[in-house]
Amino acid sequence: MTSPLLLPYEGPRLSLRNRIAMAPMTRGRADDVTGVPNPLTARYYAQRAGAGLIVSEGIWADVLGKSGPGVPGLVTEAQVAGWRQVTDAVHVAGGTIFAQLWHVGRMTHPFILPDGATPLAPSAVRIESERIYTNAGNVDHVTPRAMTTAEVEGAIGAFAREARNAIRAGFDGVEIHGANGYLIQQFLAENTNLRTDRFGGSRENRLRFALDVVEAVAAEVGPGRVGLRISPDNPENEIAERDPRGTYRALVDALDPLGLAYLHIIERGAYQALADLRPRWSGTLIGNYNGPEATPLGAGEEVLAAGLADVFSFGRLFISNPDLPARLATGAPLAAHDPATVYGGGAEGYVDYPDEAVPAIR
Ligand SMILES: Cc1cc2nc3c(=O)[nH]c(=O)nc-3n(C[C@H](O)[C@H](O)[C@H](O)COP(=O)(O)O)c2cc1C
Repeated sequence: MTSPLLLPYEGPRLSLRNRIAMAPMTRGRADDVTGVPNPLTARYYAQRAGAGLIVSEGIWADVLGKSGPGVPGLVTEAQVAGWRQVTDAVHVAGGTIFAQLWHVGRMTHPFILPDGATPLAPSAVRIESERIYTNAGNVDHVTPRAMTTAEVEGAIGAFAREARNAIRAGFDGVEIHGANGYLIQQFLAENTNLRTDRFGGSRENRLRFALDVVEAVAAEVGPGRVGLRISPDNPENEIAERDPRGTYRALVDALDPLGLAYLHIIERGAYQALADLRPRWSGTLIGNYNGPEATPLGAGEEVLAAGLADVFSFGRLFISNPDLPARLATGAPLAAHDPATVYGGGAEGYVDYPDEAVPAIR
């Protein structure tokens, strides 16, 4: 029987050759000074174009939203030109690629930002229990500076500008990164948002930044080219959501009428987000499971068979199996990735994992 992951997908605003998405993965290989993607990046994504949908690594919308060494941007003309090489290569290979729009808020450090700038966040709440990787090694987090209301509005504008640049660079659409404890989730969560202006306090106010970003991006490039990624009840990066069910139900109810390309839900924590939110979302839903080990193909198949999502995204399996859908089709074995070459460096562990199954089905 054909795996449900291999069936073509015809959604309301999205047509994909199969239901396997490549999840966004930071690989830290851009030029650290210019934020321009590495020339190898075009080959890396083109090798993975057999995915129904590729979501790019997180790309900063503003240099103050950069998470670490070698993370690319989509602000300058040189960055747009660099990404154009990538999207052209993916399209020649028959793939579809969305750009992930990213601002990390407090999840950065003066050693990463230009001129030793202090990270910005909804509120001045420091990460206490984890350290952060910089060019000087792992260091303690600093206390971020609470954004002024004008800076919050500026960040919304930065997402919209990045979306416009993504389309100029040839991306088929954009995915707003609202997950994993970065800026958007820092506004959603009670422990990181202590604001007293219209972006904090009540649930309605905590949702405002996410909704304003989605609306600004949709106004810029059209809602049918916009996805949003969320991780309800995410326990990582010192996020503590007091009421994930209430928060994400309200968010999804507000988003559903907008006609977005998709919602991408990472299953985290104790809250069963896919099952709870699926009936409230009329558009395409992409599932993902973030656990300690790479999620196996069978987990995605089960989620699709249960009707909990339309498409399922895999991250770590795509690092070492560039031809993942073809391997599933042919039953070829899956390779494990080398953790030492995930971030930074050059071709090794990036574009040198072999395509095994592709020749067998060509
Ligand atoms: C090396 C690496 C980098 C990642 N970078 C991002 C990122 O830039 N944006 C994002 O939304 N998620 C990121 N993630 C999370 C993945 O998209 C995905 O949710 C996670 O790996 C779980 O899926 P998997 O079990 O199939 O790997 C990253 C994960 C890994 C392993």
